[in-house]
Amino acid sequence: MASSLAIFGVVMALGMLSYGAEARAFFVFGDSLVDTGNNNYLATSARADSPPYGIDYPTRRPTGRFSNGLSIPDYISQKLGAEPTLPYLSPLLTGQKLLVGANFASAGIGILNDTGVQFANIIRMPAQLLNFQQYRRRLSAQIGPQRTKQLVNQALVLLTVGGNDFVNNYYLVPFSARSRQFALPDYVRYLISELRKILLKMYDLGARRVLVTGTGPLGCAPAELAMRSRNGECAAELQRAAALYNPQLIQMLRSVNSQLGSDVFVAANVQETRNDFIKNPQAFGFTTSKIACCGQGPYNGLGLCTRASNLCPNRDLYAFWDAFHPSEKGNRLIVENIMTGDEKYMYPMNLSTILALDSRN
Ligand SMILES: *[C@@H]1O[C@H](CO)[C@@H](O)[C@H](O)[C@H]1NC(C)=O
Ligand SMILES: *[C@@H]1O[C@H](CO)[C@@H](O)[C@H](O)[C@H]1NC(C)=O
Repeated sequence: MASSLAIFGVVMALGMLSYGAEARAFFVFGDSLVDTGNNNYLATSARADSPPYGIDYPTRRPTGRFSNGLSIPDYISQKLGAEPTLPYLSPLLTGQKLLVGANFASAGIGILNDTGVQFANIIRMPAQLLNFQQYRRRLSAQIGPQRTKQLVNQALVLLTVGGNDFVNNYYLVPFSARSRQFALPDYVRYLISELRKILLKMYDLGARRVLVTGTGPLGCAPAELAMRSRNGECAAELQRAAALYNPQLIQMLRSVNSQLGSDVFVAANVQETRNDFIKNPQAFGFTTSKIACCGQGPYNGLGLCTRASNLCPNRDLYAFWDAFHPSEKGNRLIVENIMTGDEKYMYPMNLSTILALDSRN
């Protein structure tokens, strides 16, 4: 009897630990850089649920992450001391799992509704935010409106969006509708003004700490090297797009924060991090930042990563896993920079400062 009580006590204690009583909730919105499997449940070609995706994941199986292993949200969850958030569409996202947070991201989407139309059924930003409202209702039914509001207000949020508005919209085909409508600088201003509306909507829905990532050096992805570069130089037009977008993103966040009177939105300028890999891959233990581990054609940058593709034996030596997405190790380094980067990477503060500040409240 006594021993079964002791065991009961241990189980209780473990149960409380595994709730992560301390870990704050984490919500993820955006595109394939952060989708951890929502698109598996959708009729779309934008998916990563077949081998060799997931080859280095703990289960060695594809999960829907666009990575050989873990992705950016997984590493952020680790920093929070939390288990990974489940995709919103996963049937496992019920009960206590709702308290961990949820991932609403969907590969292929952009800031604009017309980005990624070729992928058909993907969850665009307005629908991601509707799903978040639905999640809030489900959580509220379980723990009540007061605790739900508190959980959402105290959560960390990640939004990674914008790259597809260039790659899968403006530059998707020559003379695309958007490129006929807008000169590049005007398009960037339009994107930033639409993104601003999305951020204010997130604020209305209760988000109070939101990491917003920049676009990365779009022109240096193996896909762009294969399609647009003659000599292995990063593709100039896409680099120009990123160079216009990222500083305006920071400016817009600064203006929204001052309007709200609080540093709700934090720019994570992934561009600087990825530029570092690209300029000096060896310093990060990569043998190449130009050639994708998985793919075919020049730089392994053409088409999709499938069972039939070239596959590198050691993924940690490659900055890019496929034609567009960083390797697991690349994702880990990106999150290290989000955690501890200086003003060059993080504005107005890094994640370790956020965690220290918020734990005092
Ligand atoms: C995108 O679609 C949503 C509805 O799905 C709509 O409310 C919104 O105005 C659209 N955005 C733009 C810029 O057209
Ligand atoms: C994070 O940002 C702060 C403030 O900018 C800086 O002092 C610190 O060195 C950065 N890194 C860590 C690990 O806190």
